[in-house]
Amino acid sequence: MTIPRFVGRPDWYNTFNPETLAATGTPLRWGVIATGNIATTVTTDLALLEDAVLQAVSSRSQTSAAAFADKFGFTTHYFDGGPSGAAAPGHLQLLADPEVDVVYVATPHGQHFDIVRAALENGKHVLCEKALTITSAETRALIELARAKGLFLMEAVWARFVPGFQRALEIITSGEIGEIKWVRGDLGFVAPNDPALRIWAPNDGGGALLDLTVYPLLWAWGTLGQPEKVAATGSLTSFGVDGLNTITLSYANGSQAQLISGLVSQGPGRATISGTLGYIETVNSLNNPKELFISGPGGATRTETFEEPGSGYTYQLREVTRCIQAGLTESATMPLDDSLSIMELFDEVRSQLGLSYTNDTRTDI
Ligand SMILES: NC(=O)c1ccc[n+]([C@@H]2O[C@H](COP(=O)([O-])OP(=O)(O)OC[C@H]3O[C@@H](n4cnc5c(N)ncnc54)[C@H](OP(=O)(O)O)[C@@H]3O)[C@@H](O)[C@H]2O)c1
Repeated sequence: MTIPRFVGRPDWYNTFNPETLAATGTPLRWGVIATGNIATTVTTDLALLEDAVLQAVSSRSQTSAAAFADKFGFTTHYFDGGPSGAAAPGHLQLLADPEVDVVYVATPHGQHFDIVRAALENGKHVLCEKALTITSAETRALIELARAKGLFLMEAVWARFVPGFQRALEIITSGEIGEIKWVRGDLGFVAPNDPALRIWAPNDGGGALLDLTVYPLLWAWGTLGQPEKVAATGSLTSFGVDGLNTITLSYANGSQAQLISGLVSQGPGRATISGTLGYIETVNSLNNPKELFISGPGGATRTETFEEPGSGYTYQLREVTRCIQAGLTESATMPLDDSLSIMELFDEVRSQLGLSYTNDTRTDI
């Protein structure tokens, strides 16, 4: 298998380590919280890392915890009410386990804040699925806690680490396509019309913004940086969360980005980065482009393709592992200040869309 190697990345990507599977230090003992879709996909990739020990998994259900532990070979599994008749929720039992060094939180958004806070209070390093929290106030509180405890914390924006994105940034940084003037990105699918799904549930932080927008935003953020102004429109569904949103970002130098995220229709899921000398387009999904189309100076075109181990999550997992082994408390590729700035931007988008969550008024953070 070819593992891509890149050089010349922008400074904030300078910790990327392409040897994702090879050990970089003392093995880390992982605890996985939840047994849903992304927990399964990411754990499949985690098992590929030479220095990952699958120590413990927790679930609300005994059956799910046992099946997940059995499937991946976890040493211990925890579930609500057990084992040995313990009354605590499964994830709190896992967090009390001294054999666990780092936890991966893969529950819906609505549970992230409380679980990550408990993890940090129990002395665990944390990788938490996006969106890290529902509000920027929650994100700020978690960052302060992680820093006070000297523990590693990272939002699992895996798309920052994948080869296609890294390579696009390298091309842009080289100046090949000139000065970036606009970025366009879309991501969406038709979510089943079922209010029981986390993706629609207000209490779970449902809606397109918190579930999808981080991905198209990644391309604007990575190439143009933090915007000066944001203008958002969108529509709320009968479930009370956004089914569709469109965000225009304006930059001090006159550049623009337009992002569309939706749970109500299909789309190509592509990003385009337009420069004064050429452009780059992701041929397939902007989450993890396996192919980039590059139109360079004079209209010369080419396609670059990428291979990767697993499903693309090994890159962020290597970064978490490498950082913790090195005694770092955050990743320079996915810094905590970026998580906070993005949550602040999402707060602003929500206020423009008229989208509020109960977490907006919580007083216990
Ligand atoms: N990085 C990515 O590519 C990616 C892709 C999809 C989703 N995500 C993110 O991952 C997170 C989970 O998404 P998912 O698609 O995996 O969701 P999912 O399939 O619904 O799984 C979520 C799991 O969380 C646990 N859970 C704990 N409390 C819950 C509650 N109150 N309601 C429902 N489930 C609860 C459940 O596991 P137990 O039954 O075992 O307790 C459930 O299976 C979200 O933050 C989402 O944005 C990331």
